[in-house]
Amino acid sequence: MRLQNKVSIVTGGASGMGAAESALFASEGSNVVVADMKIEDGMEVVDEIKSTGGNAIFMELDVTDEERWEVVVADVLKQFGTIDILVNNAGISGSYQPDIMSLEAYDRLMNVNSRGVFLGMRSVLPTMCESGSGSIVNISSISGIVGQSYVHMGYNASKGAVRIMTKSAAVQYAEKGIRVNSVHPGIMPPMVSSVGTADPETRKIMLEDVPMNRVGLVGEVANAVLFLASDEASYITGAELPVDGGLTAR
Ligand SMILES: NC(=O)c1ccc[n+]([C@@H]2O[C@H](COP(=O)([O-])OP(=O)(O)OC[C@H]3O[C@@H](n4cnc5c(N)ncnc54)[C@H](O)[C@@H]3O)[C@@H](O)[C@H]2O)c1
Repeated sequence: MRLQNKVSIVTGGASGMGAAESALFASEGSNVVVADMKIEDGMEVVDEIKSTGGNAIFMELDVTDEERWEVVVADVLKQFGTIDILVNNAGISGSYQPDIMSLEAYDRLMNVNSRGVFLGMRSVLPTMCESGSGSIVNISSISGIVGQSYVHMGYNASKGAVRIMTKSAAVQYAEKGIRVNSVHPGIMPPMVSSVGTADPETRKIMLEDVPMNRVGLVGEVANAVLFLASDEASYITGAELPVDGGLTAR
């Protein structure tokens, strides 16, 4: 198994790609902490994992909540003794509200998608430094690499911040044995918080930019995250991996 006996935290693990990553990690032998604001959905993911013989627990977490991060990390260390992997996956959509010039939306996007990732890294790095190893995978987006129509520019800003923050952390923590990489999903099933970009007509237009001419599958992103999280990627840090059907290759 590719993550045998590892302990992983997956933020936003209650839904979409985070749920797929949690299930895949568990199937590869990891103890998985599904961390999310959505308690019921998170518990369902955990139950599903357990029903297939995997090991997972749920912990309530708002990634913007500094104190809650401390509690979650302390709890995980108490239960499992270590944290090997953090997937900073939680996020909100760039079309969660229709006004794409809203300042409130800009602040919220930066708070959840960017500050949340910083807080996640800051919370686990001390224990990873202590153990001398760790792997962090930050979920950015094609929106962190290219500009787009239909999406609040705060989303692009937040995902661009994740992209470069990843490289910065990779440079700063390589000597401590910690790898930090980013994954950049393309046009995927709409996020729970999507409003504008969930519209079928809009999605059809968005798909015109995808050389493979289809949306991605959550499992295709989970596979990329698994690779970077695992020891198979032992000489890879600071890398950005698009999983986008070729969109950013244009
Ligand atoms: N779906 C796409 O088209 C797409 C494309 C590129 C990148 N992404 C990114 O991939 C990641 C996962 O997206 P998804 O499509 O699975 O979305 P999703 O909406 O299905 O899942 C996101 C999860 O994050 C959780 N979450 C939101 N805010 C949170 C907070 N403050 N604290 C804790 N949990 C919180 C939600 O409850 C939800 O369970 C996000 O970072 C997203 O920006 C998505």
